[in-house]
Amino acid sequence: MTEDLMYQNEIRQAVRLAYAEIPTGGGEPVTRRSYTDEELGLLPPGAVNWALGVGNPVRHAALQPGETVLDVGSGGGIDSILAARRVGPSGRVIGLDLLEEMCTRGRTHAQQAGVDGWTEFRRGEMEAIPLPDTSVDVVISNGVINLSARKSRTLAEVFRVLRPGGRICIVDLTVDEDLPPAVLGSAAAWAGCISGALSRRVLLRKLENVTFTDIRIDNPVPFSLADAALYPLFGSQLIDQMRQLLPPERHDSVATTVLITALRPPL
Ligand SMILES: C[S@@+](CC[C@H](N)C(=O)[O-])C[C@H]1O[C@@H](n2cnc3c(N)ncnc32)[C@H](O)[C@@H]1O
Repeated sequence: MTEDLMYQNEIRQAVRLAYAEIPTGGGEPVTRRSYTDEELGLLPPGAVNWALGVGNPVRHAALQPGETVLDVGSGGGIDSILAARRVGPSGRVIGLDLLEEMCTRGRTHAQQAGVDGWTEFRRGEMEAIPLPDTSVDVVISNGVINLSARKSRTLAEVFRVLRPGGRICIVDLTVDEDLPPAVLGSAAAWAGCISGALSRRVLLRKLENVTFTDIRIDNPVPFSLADAALYPLFGSQLIDQMRQLLPPERHDSVATTVLITALRPPL
């Protein structure tokens, strides 16, 4: 038990340090994988520069004007801003991030995008979301849940803040085949979202345990070593190490990006 707790703490510290230290996000090479030119045209350059996600949850979330959206692990605010465009001033977007630096970036970018009137950024942890029960219509997230050392707790928190009938639309990485221990134990690989990724089977079970319904884990897209190299979190040393440790057939698919949708059952 104590060992587990220490390990969780170690992960938490490694993730915090890694994101506090990076000088920039993935920028255009990362956004080009997931966003259209039209979407990118709606964003200030800083929001693009700080992009660190692995997909485009807003595209699939069917957001409606007036809805309240929580963006878990909002980073530089890219998806919060796109969500704010969809829900409009009668709606509300709350970006949540572990780091105050990220929240400050999110606020600046939301202001530059002209959506700051209904978009806010709060510092906090996904394992203890600082929002009341049943206060949110939709939870989106992009490349974040896999960073949690307490994923069941995170999913339970997401469930708690959703109103009955509310939904999740989350993009994340999954890993269905074991990774070498050297990669699993690497702080950089945790921060880069690979080591903490669950298999689809375990992810499904955790979502079911929290009592989400209509669960779908869809749109699998391979995440290659070349994709990983686009992110400032990995570093060339870790990429080289993974290239040596992983069999060549896994270089094009170290992990899989998936779209996770589910409902909190209506009352
Ligand atoms: C891979 S980045 C994704 C950022 C953003 N979603 C995007 O698409 O650009 C992960 C983000 O999650 C934040 N984060 C990490 N652990 C967190 C936690 N326990 N609670 C809330 N945010 C966390 C990091 O600070 C970082 O901004």
